[in-house]
Amino acid sequence: MHSAAYYVGAIIISAMFLQASSSDSIVVLYGETIEVPCNNGGELGDPLFIKWKYDEADGSPGAILTKGRDPGDVTIQATNSYKNRASIAANASLLITNATLEDEKTFTCMVVISGDIEEFPVVVKVQKRPSPPLIKDMAAELENGKLTTLGDCLAQDAHPPAEVIWSKNGLPLADDGTATIITTEETKDPATGLSSTSSKLQYTAKKADVDSEFTCTVKHVLGPDQTSEPRTFSIHYPTERVELQVVANGPIKEGDDVTLKCSADGNPPPTSFNFLLQGKMETVVGSDSYTLVGVTRANTGEYECSVADDHTLQDAKNISVNFLDISLDPSGEIVRAVGVSLPVTVQKNSSGDVKDNVKLDTQPNFDNLKYSDAGLYVCEFSTSGIKQSRFFRLAVQGKPNIKTISKTRVDKQHKVLTCEAEGAPKPSVEWSINGTNEESSYENGMLTHRITVVPTGNLTVACRVTNELGMDVKYIDVSYLFEDNDKRKGPGDGDDQAKLIVGIVVGLILAAAVMGLVYWVYMKKTRQGSWKTGEKESGTSEESKKLEENNHKADV
Ligand SMILES: *[C@@H]1O[C@H](CO)[C@@H](O)[C@H](O)[C@H]1NC(C)=O
Ligand SMILES: *[C@@H]1O[C@H](CO)[C@@H](O)[C@H](O)[C@H]1NC(C)=O
Ligand SMILES: *[C@@H]1O[C@H](CO)[C@@H](O)[C@H](O)[C@H]1NC(C)=O
Ligand SMILES: *[C@@H]1O[C@H](CO)[C@@H](O)[C@H](O)[C@H]1NC(C)=O
Ligand SMILES: *[C@@H]1O[C@H](CO)[C@@H](O)[C@H](O)[C@H]1NC(C)=O
Ligand SMILES: *[C@@H]1O[C@H](CO)[C@@H](O)[C@H](O)[C@H]1NC(C)=O
Repeated sequence: MHSAAYYVGAIIISAMFLQASSSDSIVVLYGETIEVPCNNGGELGDPLFIKWKYDEADGSPGAILTKGRDPGDVTIQATNSYKNRASIAANASLLITNATLEDEKTFTCMVVISGDIEEFPVVVKVQKRPSPPLIKDMAAELENGKLTTLGDCLAQDAHPPAEVIWSKNGLPLADDGTATIITTEETKDPATGLSSTSSKLQYTAKKADVDSEFTCTVKHVLGPDQTSEPRTFSIHYPTERVELQVVANGPIKEGDDVTLKCSADGNPPPTSFNFLLQGKMETVVGSDSYTLVGVTRANTGEYECSVADDHTLQDAKNISVNFLDISLDPSGEIVRAVGVSLPVTVQKNSSGDVKDNVKLDTQPNFDNLKYSDAGLYVCEFSTSGIKQSRFFRLAVQGKPNIKTISKTRVDKQHKVLTCEAEGAPKPSVEWSINGTNEESSYENGMLTHRITVVPTGNLTVACRVTNELGMDVKYIDVSYLFEDNDKRKGPGDGDDQAKLIVGIVVGLILAAAVMGLVYWVYMKKTRQGSWKTGEKESGTSEESKKLEENNHKADV
């Protein structure tokens, strides 16, 4: 038992001591064990007696435990929760398990060393990190221009209270009293004393906020910031404008499918539309498109669409369906007799200008069909997006007509006989003499046939040329003896000088016709691809052959 004077002295000394030294302070985590060091862990000497006490809220002292010299001499004095939670370490530190906010007070270690009493007060602070941000009452979507509660962000069970911050695209949002309102509230759990902070964000979205990312961040003295997953919101706004789009690849032509698409600028978009199709109303539900399948020129006209429940929101477009009608006469496979005339006519009807058009002066027109006119004729036309071609394949027929029959001496015994005849289809040739080295060519209705013979006497040899339309025959004398090459027409033919002159005149006329042909070929080549002759495409070779043929005739 100590005397009253002892205690009075101890109190005076401890008061002096407190004035002389500032308190230490420690921070511990909520729920963990508090270790309150005595004299900040410094040397205590050999104390007779150690007492741990604390200051009650009203300033009165509260005893926890005492420890005598003997290591086992520990007395728990506390009658409150410290009775079970408090203990003393060998180095005189006070240990208190399961720290709560109640433990935020000043603990004092009183040490008695041979008559001296020292006190070491320690201020204990308890802190707790909040739980991660929890967002409640999250908006499903936002409405353009309307103040809407976007969400309520909660940071629970913290000490000291946590700070809650809303951010948009990473930048903190501030309350501006009108478009952005942030209401922060702090509550304290009456049992634990821990604080929860809630922050309600009311926000007026704009259309541009459709991509904005909203986050909530919880800041606390303990540990790093905790941020919620970013959230985006769909922004609702009414339709103000509709646009009718005509979906087609390039200019529209007959047979195309044309899709009309009615786009509205609202979000969510309207779900049904009215399409006014050349005066006929079609309502489409659940889609913004209407497809016209296989349009014709009759579909050319005005089209309109509107939002089904608001006819004032509408748009119109004109659709023009291009068409091209071509008729070529003659067409297909045709057969004509040599020498007749063949008029060629093209008729066209189109929605627009027809390009690559055939000009009348370049169009073939046959006054007097020649065998060489046979072939494939193709004409091509185009107008916006449409290309069409037409053709005819001309066959020129006529009965055989032997032009020349001639002979050439090769050596003492052999002579070559040549028979040239026009005619189509290809005629067959028959000689009245047996021969060898038979050679035959047929082009542009001209057949050239050669045989090599060995004359056994003075003979008159016949060349007989036949096709399904008729036959022609001519004769030539072949002598046994050596004689000069000669070229003879058949009997009654070729011995008349007047006829020769006529021949020359005819030749000149034909030459003039060739000039005309050359001009046509030239036109054909300069007007790109208007007309082409498929099977006899090389105008120049055709032309040169003509020239050759006519030269030959002039020679006669
Ligand atoms: C005192 O002892 C306790 C328990 O043995 C130990 O955890 C602590 O670090 C010691 N304190 C000082 C200041 O040495
Ligand atoms: C102290 O904490 C431990 C472990 O967390 C627990 O098992 C025990 O029940 C707590 N005691 C009190 C008194 O709260
Ligand atoms: C469609 O064409 C008609 C006649 O040319 C014209 O009156 C109308 O304004 C046009 N509509 C649109 C939407 O261009
Ligand atoms: C061309 O086609 C249009 C539309 O089919 C038709 O009205 C017009 O009569 C045609 N013109 C001729 C010359 O065929
Ligand atoms: C041609 O030859 C055939 C058989 O080789 C013969 O029968 C025929 O008499 C000959 N004709 C002439 C005109 O020599
Ligand atoms: C063939 O005719 C030539 C003159 O044309 C004559 O000289 C010759 O004698 C004739 N030969 C025969 C075998 O008749």
